[in-house]
Amino acid sequence: MEPACLDDKPCTINSDGAPVLSRPIARQGATGEFELINKSLQYTEPDGTIDVKKLIAAYTFEEHALRADKYFETIVDPWAYHLRKPFTTVDECAVALAALSGLLPLLKLQRGHHIVDFGCGTGWLSAAMALMQCQVTGIDISQRALDIALSAVLEHPTLKEGRIDFRRLGESGIPLETSSVERIVCFDSFHHVADQHFYLQEFFRVLRPGGIVGFSEPGPGHSRSLASQYEMRNFAVIENDIVLEEISSMAKAVGFEKMNMSVFADTPMVMPVEEFLSLANEGRQQAYEDLGSWLFKRAKGRSVFALHKPGEESLDSRTASALGADVSIVGQSFDVATRRLAVTLLVHNTGTGAWLPSGANIGSMNIGVRISTENGSPIGREPIRFDLANVETKPGRSIRTDLLVDIPPGGNLVVEFDLVAEHVAWLSQIALRPPRISLPASR
Ligand SMILES: C[S@@+](CC[C@H](N)C(=O)[O-])C[C@H]1O[C@@H](n2cnc3c(N)ncnc32)[C@H](O)[C@@H]1O
Repeated sequence: MEPACLDDKPCTINSDGAPVLSRPIARQGATGEFELINKSLQYTEPDGTIDVKKLIAAYTFEEHALRADKYFETIVDPWAYHLRKPFTTVDECAVALAALSGLLPLLKLQRGHHIVDFGCGTGWLSAAMALMQCQVTGIDISQRALDIALSAVLEHPTLKEGRIDFRRLGESGIPLETSSVERIVCFDSFHHVADQHFYLQEFFRVLRPGGIVGFSEPGPGHSRSLASQYEMRNFAVIENDIVLEEISSMAKAVGFEKMNMSVFADTPMVMPVEEFLSLANEGRQQAYEDLGSWLFKRAKGRSVFALHKPGEESLDSRTASALGADVSIVGQSFDVATRRLAVTLLVHNTGTGAWLPSGANIGSMNIGVRISTENGSPIGREPIRFDLANVETKPGRSIRTDLLVDIPPGGNLVVEFDLVAEHVAWLSQIALRPPRISLPASR
């Protein structure tokens, strides 16, 4: 019979003196409530080591989920540790930030990208990527973790405005549509999933063509490390191995075309300045080879890699270098009495990226009307925005649009018709000579 282990106290002691399962797993009982059960006998070897594959098989998806929830429920004050990530301790911060700087270049993130933070936990990375102006969906198996993440976002002065949403991961897969996101990131989360092949398939499904999923995960032998054994023994957390050869062949079978590794050291090599200068200036071959093998050894300690879905990533107005436009005035009339200017513009997308529909999002394309005095002093702090189109405008397409602009009273004025990709660039900064109309002074 499995040991009855219905509270958070250790219920069994191993031969090495460590408690077996102090936070047991749940099962749905007669009352409909989850009751806690312990299946550690199914995955604990006679010598006390935990076999991670057997641990995975011992519990259902919902049991693993509830275990994760139970863990996050023990957090009394999330700001005491979890919400301070990555700035928890000096050592943890250095490791986390090094891993992030190894990962970010692989992801090739751009402003406005829709990225999934898979296994987001309490959401520090979701928040960081939203601050980097990405649209983030944080996904986790634990609803409790997501509740904490959301509460922190709602307290944030700018993030509460909605650049992040959180969704719970259910058994049927990632709760997102096929080909709907540009990037996925797994930061210390993929080694917790029960079925790596299934999630690689899911990542492939939800990524758009040309999309990238990046991982920062533990290095080889993770499941056998003392820390992992402790976690699995006490909390039944899945601490699986990330075997690069296996991931590479599963990823290929699923359809990914390329797997790139990030080769970096999580701590820098520190040396006296004299040694640094002599290495830098003298270029001794042996010294460089030593540095190379040192770097390689360090790099093997953590698995930071990316998988690429085949296909061309289509550019759009979130990317400044894809912007190009031609604007001409094809009709105009000015009512002197009401000081209302009616203008018809013909706007041509000469760039390489599609223009996103008008609005306030990153890359939304709007018309900006700038009014200034004859000698160039602007009137009003910001150009007046008009919608350009409520649908996407592909490269090579033209739009004809009518505007009614209220002109303030004053001397001779100049009205200029510019375009803006919101939060990205004004087209006049890049590729456009905005057409102008000069208007007479009011009487
Ligand atoms: C070590 S935490 C990392 C969280 C976050 N990425 C961070 O850096 O703080 C691992 C996360 O994976 C989630 N997780 C655990 N088991 C999972 C599973 N079977 N499937 C998906 N996510 C899981 C946990 O709820 C937890 O939030």
